[in-house]
Amino acid sequence: MLSHRAELPRDLIIAKLDRFVASRGIGTYWGEGVSTPLGVPQTRFVQSPIQQVRAEIYEFLDVALALQERQLVLEIGLGDYGGTHFLWRMLFDRVVTIERWGHLVYALDYELDPNRDLFVIGEAHAPATLRHLRFIADQFDLVFIDGDHSYNAVAADTMIFGRLVRPGGILAWHDTCQDVMGVKPFLADYTAGRIDGVNHQVTTIDLAHTASHWGRHELSPHGVRIGLSYEIINHNQISGPDLLS
Ligand SMILES: C[S@@+](CC[C@H](N)C(=O)[O-])C[C@H]1O[C@@H](n2cnc3c(N)ncnc32)[C@H](O)[C@@H]1O
Repeated sequence: MLSHRAELPRDLIIAKLDRFVASRGIGTYWGEGVSTPLGVPQTRFVQSPIQQVRAEIYEFLDVALALQERQLVLEIGLGDYGGTHFLWRMLFDRVVTIERWGHLVYALDYELDPNRDLFVIGEAHAPATLRHLRFIADQFDLVFIDGDHSYNAVAADTMIFGRLVRPGGILAWHDTCQDVMGVKPFLADYTAGRIDGVNHQVTTIDLAHTASHWGRHELSPHGVRIGLSYEIINHNQISGPDLLS
Protein backbone atom coordinates (compact mmCIF):
# COMPACT_ATOMS: atom_id res chain seq x y z
CA MET A 1 0.00 0.00 0.00
CA LEU A 2 1.48 3.33 -1.05
CA SER A 3 1.69 6.04 1.55
CA HIS A 4 1.22 9.55 0.22
CA ARG A 5 2.81 12.80 1.23
CA ALA A 6 0.90 15.47 3.04
CA GLU A 7 0.10 18.48 0.82
CA LEU A 8 2.35 21.25 2.15
CA PRO A 9 2.02 24.95 1.37
CA ARG A 10 4.96 26.64 -0.40
CA ASP A 11 6.04 28.63 2.68
CA LEU A 12 6.26 25.51 4.79
CA ILE A 13 8.22 23.66 2.11
CA ILE A 14 10.72 26.52 2.03
CA ALA A 15 10.89 26.71 5.81
CA LYS A 16 11.60 22.97 6.03
CA LEU A 17 14.20 23.16 3.26
CA ASP A 18 15.91 26.14 4.91
CA ARG A 19 16.02 24.25 8.21
CA PHE A 20 17.44 21.17 6.45
CA VAL A 21 20.17 23.28 4.84
CA ALA A 22 21.01 25.26 7.99
CA SER A 23 21.58 22.13 10.04
CA ARG A 24 24.02 20.27 7.78
CA GLY A 25 27.43 20.65 6.14
CA ILE A 26 28.42 24.30 5.80
CA GLY A 27 24.82 25.26 6.56
CA THR A 28 24.10 27.27 3.44
CA TYR A 29 22.76 26.94 -0.07
CA TRP A 30 25.30 26.64 -2.87
CA GLY A 31 27.66 29.57 -3.11
CA GLU A 32 26.54 31.42 0.01
CA GLY A 33 29.16 30.17 2.40
CA VAL A 34 32.76 29.09 2.29
CA SER A 35 32.69 26.46 -0.42
CA THR A 36 35.53 24.30 -1.60
CA PRO A 37 37.06 25.84 -4.72
CA LEU A 38 35.94 24.17 -7.90
CA GLY A 39 38.18 21.27 -8.87
CA VAL A 40 39.33 20.55 -5.31
CA PRO A 41 38.08 17.31 -3.71
CA GLN A 42 35.22 18.02 -1.35
CA THR A 43 34.10 16.35 1.85
CA ARG A 44 30.73 16.30 3.52
CA PHE A 45 31.94 18.91 6.00
CA VAL A 46 32.81 21.61 3.51
CA GLN A 47 29.87 21.01 1.25
CA SER A 48 26.49 22.68 0.84
CA PRO A 49 23.71 20.35 1.99
CA ILE A 50 21.91 21.19 -1.24
CA GLN A 51 23.99 21.94 -4.31
CA GLN A 52 21.54 24.55 -5.56
CA VAL A 53 21.43 28.33 -5.60
CA ARG A 54 18.71 29.42 -3.18
CA ALA A 55 16.94 31.86 -5.54
CA GLU A 56 17.04 29.35 -8.42
CA ILE A 57 15.65 26.40 -6.53
CA TYR A 58 12.92 28.56 -4.96
CA GLU A 59 11.86 29.67 -8.44
CA PHE A 60 11.94 26.12 -9.75
CA LEU A 61 9.83 25.07 -6.78
CA ASP A 62 7.04 27.23 -8.20
CA VAL A 63 7.40 25.54 -11.58
CA ALA A 64 7.12 22.11 -9.96
CA LEU A 65 4.21 23.17 -7.76
CA ALA A 66 2.29 24.18 -10.89
CA LEU A 67 2.35 20.61 -12.21
CA GLN A 68 -1.11 19.09 -12.42
CA GLU A 69 0.13 15.76 -11.14
CA ARG A 70 2.89 15.23 -8.64
CA GLN A 71 3.14 11.51 -8.21
CA LEU A 72 6.59 10.48 -9.33
CA VAL A 73 9.93 12.20 -9.78
CA LEU A 74 13.17 10.77 -11.10
CA GLU A 75 16.42 12.41 -10.04
CA ILE A 76 19.85 11.62 -11.45
CA GLY A 77 22.45 12.51 -8.80
CA LEU A 78 21.80 12.47 -5.05
CA GLY A 79 24.73 14.61 -3.89
CA ASP A 80 26.40 14.52 -0.49
CA TYR A 81 23.32 15.17 1.62
CA GLY A 82 20.42 14.34 -0.67
CA GLY A 83 19.22 17.95 -0.60
CA THR A 84 17.11 17.86 -3.74
CA HIS A 85 15.76 14.40 -2.87
CA PHE A 86 14.66 15.97 0.43
CA LEU A 87 12.89 18.75 -1.49
CA TRP A 88 11.21 16.45 -4.02
CA ARG A 89 9.79 14.22 -1.27
CA MET A 90 7.82 17.22 0.00
CA LEU A 91 6.33 17.73 -3.47
CA PHE A 92 5.88 14.26 -4.95
CA ASP A 93 4.34 11.03 -3.71
CA ARG A 94 7.42 9.03 -4.64
CA VAL A 95 11.01 10.02 -5.37
CA VAL A 96 13.38 7.78 -7.32
CA THR A 97 17.04 8.81 -7.21
CA ILE A 98 19.80 7.20 -9.26
CA GLU A 99 23.21 7.56 -7.60
CA ARG A 100 26.50 5.86 -8.40
CA TRP A 101 27.84 5.94 -4.81
CA GLY A 102 25.95 3.71 -2.40
CA HIS A 103 27.61 5.29 0.64
CA LEU A 104 25.83 8.58 -0.09
CA VAL A 105 22.48 6.80 0.04
CA TYR A 106 23.36 4.98 3.27
CA ALA A 107 24.59 8.22 4.85
CA LEU A 108 21.29 10.05 4.41
CA ASP A 109 20.32 11.35 7.82
CA TYR A 110 16.62 12.11 7.37
CA GLU A 111 13.75 9.74 7.84
CA LEU A 112 13.00 7.69 4.74
CA ASP A 113 9.84 5.84 3.83
CA PRO A 114 10.56 2.69 1.79
CA ASN A 115 7.30 3.19 -0.09
CA ARG A 116 8.16 6.75 -1.07
CA ASP A 117 11.97 7.03 -1.19
CA LEU A 118 13.50 4.77 -3.80
CA PHE A 119 17.14 4.57 -4.78
CA VAL A 120 18.86 2.90 -7.67
CA ILE A 121 22.53 2.61 -6.82
CA GLY A 122 24.65 2.39 -9.93
CA GLU A 123 25.96 4.18 -12.96
CA ALA A 124 23.11 6.08 -14.57
CA HIS A 125 23.46 4.41 -17.95
CA ALA A 126 24.47 0.91 -16.88
CA PRO A 127 22.09 -1.81 -18.12
CA ALA A 128 21.55 -3.04 -14.53
CA THR A 129 20.50 0.47 -13.46
CA LEU A 130 18.04 0.77 -16.33
CA ARG A 131 16.60 -2.68 -15.64
CA HIS A 132 16.14 -1.78 -11.98
CA LEU A 133 14.46 1.50 -12.91
CA ARG A 134 12.11 -0.30 -15.24
CA PHE A 135 10.83 -2.37 -12.31
CA ILE A 136 9.92 0.83 -10.47
CA ALA A 137 8.23 2.97 -13.13
CA ASP A 138 8.38 4.07 -16.72
CA GLN A 139 6.69 7.47 -16.51
CA PHE A 140 7.52 10.44 -14.33
CA ASP A 141 6.05 13.89 -13.69
CA LEU A 142 9.53 15.37 -13.32
CA VAL A 143 12.96 14.15 -14.39
CA PHE A 144 15.77 16.17 -12.80
CA ILE A 145 19.21 15.66 -14.35
CA ASP A 146 22.05 16.54 -11.96
CA GLY A 147 24.55 13.66 -12.19
CA ASP A 148 27.63 13.53 -14.41
CA HIS A 149 27.88 16.99 -15.98
CA SER A 150 30.00 16.06 -18.99
CA TYR A 151 28.45 16.69 -22.41
CA ASN A 152 28.11 13.02 -23.36
CA ALA A 153 26.65 12.00 -20.00
CA VAL A 154 24.06 14.79 -20.04
CA ALA A 155 23.18 13.90 -23.63
CA ALA A 156 22.69 10.27 -22.60
CA ASP A 157 20.68 11.25 -19.49
CA THR A 158 18.45 13.41 -21.66
CA MET A 159 17.85 10.84 -24.36
CA ILE A 160 17.36 7.92 -21.97
CA PHE A 161 15.47 9.51 -19.09
CA GLY A 162 13.86 12.46 -20.86
CA ARG A 163 11.60 10.14 -22.79
CA LEU A 164 10.19 8.92 -19.46
CA VAL A 165 8.59 12.31 -18.73
CA ARG A 166 4.84 12.04 -19.14
CA PRO A 167 3.12 14.56 -21.45
CA GLY A 168 2.67 17.75 -19.44
CA GLY A 169 5.57 16.85 -17.17
CA ILE A 170 8.95 18.54 -16.75
CA LEU A 171 12.46 17.65 -17.85
CA ALA A 172 15.06 19.70 -15.97
CA TRP A 173 18.84 20.06 -15.89
CA HIS A 174 21.12 21.70 -13.34
CA ASP A 175 24.33 23.72 -13.89
CA THR A 176 23.13 24.85 -17.28
CA CYS A 177 24.95 28.21 -17.28
CA GLN A 178 28.34 27.02 -16.01
CA ASP A 179 31.04 27.51 -18.61
CA VAL A 180 33.29 24.78 -17.26
CA MET A 181 30.82 21.93 -17.68
CA GLY A 182 29.15 20.13 -20.54
CA VAL A 183 25.54 20.95 -19.74
CA LYS A 184 25.57 24.40 -21.32
CA PRO A 185 26.96 23.33 -24.71
CA PHE A 186 24.66 20.30 -24.70
CA LEU A 187 21.60 22.49 -24.16
CA ALA A 188 22.76 24.83 -26.93
CA ASP A 189 22.74 21.84 -29.30
CA TYR A 190 19.52 20.42 -27.85
CA THR A 191 17.57 23.64 -28.34
CA ALA A 192 19.06 24.26 -31.80
CA GLY A 193 17.82 20.88 -33.06
CA ARG A 194 21.31 19.42 -33.39
CA ILE A 195 20.60 16.45 -31.10
CA ASP A 196 17.37 14.93 -32.40
CA GLY A 197 16.21 17.39 -35.04
CA VAL A 198 13.76 19.11 -32.65
CA ASN A 199 14.19 22.73 -31.50
CA HIS A 200 13.37 22.09 -27.85
CA GLN A 201 11.86 24.98 -25.91
CA VAL A 202 13.92 25.28 -22.75
CA THR A 203 13.46 27.94 -20.07
CA THR A 204 16.48 28.90 -17.96
CA ILE A 205 16.47 30.18 -14.39
CA ASP A 206 19.76 32.03 -13.96
CA LEU A 207 19.81 33.92 -10.66
CA ALA A 208 23.20 33.21 -9.10
CA HIS A 209 24.11 36.88 -9.40
CA THR A 210 21.22 37.78 -7.08
CA ALA A 211 22.30 35.34 -4.35
CA SER A 212 23.56 37.09 -1.26
CA HIS A 213 26.48 36.24 1.04
CA TRP A 214 28.74 34.79 -1.62
CA GLY A 215 31.78 32.93 -0.37
CA ARG A 216 35.35 34.00 -0.83
CA HIS A 217 36.45 31.34 -3.31
CA GLU A 218 35.63 30.76 -6.98
CA LEU A 219 31.93 30.96 -6.27
CA SER A 220 32.06 34.71 -6.00
CA PRO A 221 29.67 36.99 -7.89
CA HIS A 222 32.38 37.78 -10.40
CA GLY A 223 30.85 36.21 -13.44
CA VAL A 224 29.96 32.84 -11.94
CA ARG A 225 26.63 31.51 -13.11
CA ILE A 226 25.00 28.22 -12.19
CA GLY A 227 21.58 27.92 -13.86
CA LEU A 228 18.66 25.54 -13.75
CA SER A 229 16.77 24.91 -16.98
CA TYR A 230 13.61 23.05 -17.79
CA GLU A 231 11.39 21.96 -20.65
CA ILE A 232 7.70 21.21 -20.41
CA ILE A 233 7.17 18.00 -22.33
CA ASN A 234 3.99 18.27 -24.37
CA HIS A 235 4.09 14.95 -26.15
CA ASN A 236 6.68 12.34 -27.04
CA GLN A 237 9.21 14.93 -28.16
CA ILE A 238 12.34 12.97 -27.54
CA SER A 239 13.11 10.54 -30.30
CA GLY A 240 15.66 7.75 -30.42
CA PRO A 241 15.75 4.18 -29.17
CA ASP A 242 13.93 3.18 -26.02
CA LEU A 243 16.86 1.81 -24.06
CA LEU A 244 14.66 0.72 -21.19
CA SER A 245 12.76 -1.87 -23.19
C1 LIG B 1 25.96 17.69 -8.23
S1 LIG B 1 25.69 16.24 -7.28
C2 LIG B 1 23.94 16.22 -7.07
C3 LIG B 1 23.47 17.28 -6.13
C4 LIG B 1 22.06 17.17 -5.64
N1 LIG B 1 21.11 17.00 -6.74
C5 LIG B 1 21.73 18.42 -4.86
O1 LIG B 1 21.29 19.41 -5.47
O2 LIG B 1 21.97 18.44 -3.65
C6 LIG B 1 25.95 14.99 -8.49
C7 LIG B 1 25.74 13.57 -8.00
O3 LIG B 1 25.64 12.72 -9.14
C8 LIG B 1 26.34 11.53 -8.90
N2 LIG B 1 26.77 11.00 -10.20
C9 LIG B 1 27.69 11.54 -11.03
N3 LIG B 1 27.80 10.79 -12.15
C10 LIG B 1 26.93 9.77 -12.03
C11 LIG B 1 26.59 8.66 -12.85
N4 LIG B 1 27.19 8.46 -14.04
N5 LIG B 1 25.66 7.80 -12.43
C12 LIG B 1 25.05 7.98 -11.23
N6 LIG B 1 25.33 9.01 -10.39
C13 LIG B 1 26.26 9.89 -10.78
C14 LIG B 1 27.51 11.97 -8.01
O4 LIG B 1 28.04 10.87 -7.28
C15 LIG B 1 26.86 13.03 -7.14
O5 LIG B 1 26.34 12.47 -5.96
